[in-house]
Amino acid sequence: MNRTASFRLQQLPPYLFEAIDRLKRKERAAGREVIDLGIGDPDLPTPPSVIEALQRASAEPRHHRYPPYRGTIEFRQAIAEWYAKRFGVILDPEKEVLVLLGSKEGIAHLPLALINPGDAVLVPNPGYPVYKNSVMFAGGQPIDMPLTRDQHFLPNLDQVEGASRAKLLFLNYPNNPTSATATVDFFSQCVKWGKRHQVMICNDAPYSEIYFAAPPPSILSVEGAKDCCIEFHSLSKSFNMTGWRIGFAVGNSEMIGALAQIKENIDSGTPTAIQEAGIAALGLKDFSDQMRVVYRRRRETLVSALKEAKFQLFSSDATFYLWVAVPDGETSLSFTQHLLEKAGIVATPGSGFGEKGEGYIRFSLTSSDSLIQTAAERLAHIQ
Ligand SMILES: Cc1ncc(COP(=O)(O)O)c(C=O)c1O
Repeated sequence: MNRTASFRLQQLPPYLFEAIDRLKRKERAAGREVIDLGIGDPDLPTPPSVIEALQRASAEPRHHRYPPYRGTIEFRQAIAEWYAKRFGVILDPEKEVLVLLGSKEGIAHLPLALINPGDAVLVPNPGYPVYKNSVMFAGGQPIDMPLTRDQHFLPNLDQVEGASRAKLLFLNYPNNPTSATATVDFFSQCVKWGKRHQVMICNDAPYSEIYFAAPPPSILSVEGAKDCCIEFHSLSKSFNMTGWRIGFAVGNSEMIGALAQIKENIDSGTPTAIQEAGIAALGLKDFSDQMRVVYRRRRETLVSALKEAKFQLFSSDATFYLWVAVPDGETSLSFTQHLLEKAGIVATPGSGFGEKGEGYIRFSLTSSDSLIQTAAERLAHIQ
């Protein structure tokens, strides 16, 4: 019997990446150059003006005290302005905006704020594991929504058994790991469905600024969405700030208020100096354009190598991920190991995102251009 870990921890799925981590260490110890395309953590630095804003703000004694729980009003206003400009959605910075310690923190605490033990919550499969695990931590019952290629990795809510008894629905578009995007029309159907069945909706959108065609929409741009929806955003991926831990939730004021109340009892807000840096980030004029140029270039390099090697990949226009089918006869894990041993490339096995991710691997474009180029050369000739 495990006397230390709570039943919550014992419910967690086994750590799938152990075998990969071990192999990675072995390859590196043997002096082989390993190219890590496994993790979605931008390699490029945070913009200098954001760092300068933090430096200035960190010297201000008033920023050394506890931050306001919901975030500073200045940062919340900057978020509302950014939202209006980017999505055409008007937000009340007082009631409809909440600053987070990254969107992961918001996801992890949302079920505690909104559901009761035993309540059902719809989670994407494959999906970012925190949706399902946070539901289990809150004593809820996760219901998997299969995301399949034939439906462009969008859930079909009418086909998910028990969906209408759920209390909350997690969506994630642009999507990790599949890179799929959603249209306003899809969001509109979800909002209608949510209202019909009284299901609250949370769209997690940390990849909203990484796109290569039309800018992905916000679920809040659907008329009436604020009645039952919130959306999470993050500065992590958009502004190369994963290490800064800053994100935000926007939308339905009651859902935002409930999440704020949970947070008031757990953390004491995002450091004020980091929020000042956040204002500088959201005010940047063409930084996201520059990042899109970089990711587009890397994407083209890797996609053409994968095509040359006859891989089947899901074609999408957003995120810095590539979702690639493994060759016949391989599993996600066996092929990830093969790639590491034969080409020194680390990918993420799709099965790490849930059983519906089996048969796929995910590549992340967050390594330097030259490493991506080397990976492409190795992939083009992989046996
Ligand atoms: C879908 C999704 N949501 C949330 C996060 C967490 O981002 P943050 O750094 O804002 O906590 C990630 C990070 O990989 C992610 O892929």
